[in-house]
Amino acid sequence: MMNPVVKIDIPEVKKLYSGKVRDLYPVDEEHMLIVSTDRISAFDYIFPNGIPGKGVILNTISSLWFKNMSFIKNHIVEDNFSNFPAPYSNYPELFKDRSVIVKKTKRIDFECVARGYIIGSGWKEYKENGSVSGVTLPSGLKMAEKLPETIFTPATKADIGHDMNVSIDILKETLGNKDTELLKEMTIKTYEYGRSMLEKTGIILADTKFEFGYYNGEIILIDEVMTPDSSRFWDLQKYEVGKSPVSFDKQFIRDYIDTTPWDKNSPPTPLPEEIVIKTAEKYGEILDRIKNMFN
Ligand SMILES: Nc1ncnc2c1ncn2[C@@H]1O[C@H](COP(=O)(O)OP(=O)(O)OP(=O)(O)O)[C@@H](O)[C@H]1O
Ligand SMILES: [Mg+2]
Repeated sequence: MMNPVVKIDIPEVKKLYSGKVRDLYPVDEEHMLIVSTDRISAFDYIFPNGIPGKGVILNTISSLWFKNMSFIKNHIVEDNFSNFPAPYSNYPELFKDRSVIVKKTKRIDFECVARGYIIGSGWKEYKENGSVSGVTLPSGLKMAEKLPETIFTPATKADIGHDMNVSIDILKETLGNKDTELLKEMTIKTYEYGRSMLEKTGIILADTKFEFGYYNGEIILIDEVMTPDSSRFWDLQKYEVGKSPVSFDKQFIRDYIDTTPWDKNSPPTPLPEEIVIKTAEKYGEILDRIKNMFN
């Protein structure tokens, strides 16, 4: 296997920011470059080793969605490496196929989550109090069951610590009614579009997380879109209500972690080779299906 790209440094420019997966680089006043590395994180910790090719896969998947969703404005300015400016154009081994040039926005500090099925933190909350992020759900739902309608369950983007589900009222307090309703509408619409597209390729899009930002006073879609890092992708053929679904996404890593003694509160040890290979395969499979879907 090729070496994973986990750390990017070039002498000509100083990066603006390094996230768990992406690094941001300056372009000009209004634009920046986002490069998706091969880093993988779980429970907010980055693993010391990466998944070779993961960044390329994530970047390609997001670009395909952005390009095919004319109903929503997004941050992309250039996704073709051949048109990138120097110094980035001098480093194809670091930036090619894994970077985009985007509009710099004022990020909205909430994760906009849409759920069509009940699982994960939503399932946990539902079992405790019958609701998720303040949305009351019908009683008697089973694990992984499809919801009667898509719900909007925002979460805080915590600088330190884990993100927390919050009610829509918290968004209204910070962003106002109008923009909150707009976010909800865009989140549900984009999720439902993605879900209906993916269904044709045998994938259930159980839930997904979007990020938005303000650009010239307008709310636009930023960051990554409907990737296996930001979404739950289930195998439609193996789906059964009441059972933990077979997934193509990061859940595979989380399930592996549950078999290890890691406490999720300290830097983790490297992922074993077989888990790295398996994860690369799952991500690759998703990319192939999405590519075919848009063909
Ligand atoms: N167009 C944009 N304008 C402003 N910020 C953006 C834009 N697109 C993405 N971002 C931000 O760039 C960063 C991408 O890095 P990455 O996805 O690795 O972050 P992360 O570790 O998941 O999360 P965090 O957002 O908590 O740093 C995120 O902080 C994201 O909010
Ligand atoms: Mg992110």
